[in-house]
Amino acid sequence: MKIISVVGARPNFMKIAPFIRAIEEYNNKNQKEKIEHLLVHTGQHYDARMSDNFFEALGIPDADINLEVGSGSHAYQVGQTMIKFEKVLKEHKPDWVIVVGDVNATLACSVTTKKENIKCCHIEAGLRSGDMRMPEEINRLVTDRLSDLLLTPDRLSTQNLLNESVPESRIKFVGNIMIDTLEVNHKIADSLHISQIIRENLFENMGINDIQNKIQQVKGNFALMTLHRPSNVDSKEILESLISFICDEVTNRMPVIWPIHPRTTNKLKEFGLWKKVINTPDLILLHPLGYHEMLKFNMSAKVMLTDSGGLQEECCVLGTPCLTLRWNTERPITLRENGGASVLVGNNIDLLRKEFNETLILERKPKRPELWDGHTAERCLDAIISFKE
Ligand code: UD1
Repeated sequence: MKIISVVGARPNFMKIAPFIRAIEEYNNKNQKEKIEHLLVHTGQHYDARMSDNFFEALGIPDADINLEVGSGSHAYQVGQTMIKFEKVLKEHKPDWVIVVGDVNATLACSVTTKKENIKCCHIEAGLRSGDMRMPEEINRLVTDRLSDLLLTPDRLSTQNLLNESVPESRIKFVGNIMIDTLEVNHKIADSLHISQIIRENLFENMGINDIQNKIQQVKGNFALMTLHRPSNVDSKEILESLISFICDEVTNRMPVIWPIHPRTTNKLKEFGLWKKVINTPDLILLHPLGYHEMLKFNMSAKVMLTDSGGLQEECCVLGTPCLTLRWNTERPITLRENGGASVLVGNNIDLLRKEFNETLILERKPKRPELWDGHTAERCLDAIISFKE
């Protein structure tokens, strides 16, 4: 059997690492019928801090093929990926293409795969936010509509697919593959030191005195924040109100550690907000962090503020109280009302303030949804091998 797996952007890397390991383990056990595997990176994320560092930290082998698509509009990224990936498929003729998550690579490669009449498997199928303004929702809908095998992280996602009339024979509930990566890596993360992570990742324009002060401050409690969704950072009004809340109302209660996405850096500069951010004393601005470094912070933070999907899931398993800066989520299993650690606060500052105050008195409450057990990748591979059309 010949398999091509596809990655494109940061959240894909922690999902593909365990799958590749499962193939290697399978090949070690099955000397006769080995799986031939090729890894394709579309190149949507290309900075070392957004891509290469994750390959190294998670032990992902170098991509066999890099399509080097880079940044651009959605149409540009999807179009370029399709043109280049079609050539890869024509040359290598795999039996299966595996796509993960909901980024532009997921959409572009699933469409191209089916146009070439090749079987497509989607890992992390069935998530639905119901929000068609979210580019990821479009990617999820198209990919799930086309895929032959849909591997879901939870039973709510399975139900979403059944509601859309996907035949049951194509769906398999396998659990959350990202948690396989968390299981393998949490001890390494735990052994890291917060002060060293800060020192190594602080924005260069801060002086040595600032660094000492900042490292002192996080000995106790700190808030951890990430922000990159277009719905939060592409509007000056929304971004400005979030920044004002963080700078004026949160940092006087506890230091805020903010590993900042390149998109957000660009937008803060474009909207004239960058100075305010770098001049707020207790806002600790870091470059995008590696996997272990981010996990260490998540294990230690008093509270998380985020619009990321993957972090909502990690907060659920680690029990970190999480304020999700969105109006909806495709991951309802992570919400407090379903036993998880997150609450939706959108970008309404009054709601954010209220929930922030209520969250500060909460303790960590880890929760393991069904089959988030560190063995999802094996179940994914089993489902692919035993698939019958
Ligand atoms: C993408 C995913 C999103 C995911 C996020 C995680 C889609 C539709 N979106 O959004 O689901 O949560 O990744 O990071 O696929 N940039 C760099 N260096 C890089 C990559 C990007 O500087 O290595 C900058 C560029 O200015 C680029 C901007 O970030 O224009 C946005 O990058 P892009 O890949 O378009 O989308 P993300 O916002 O990262």
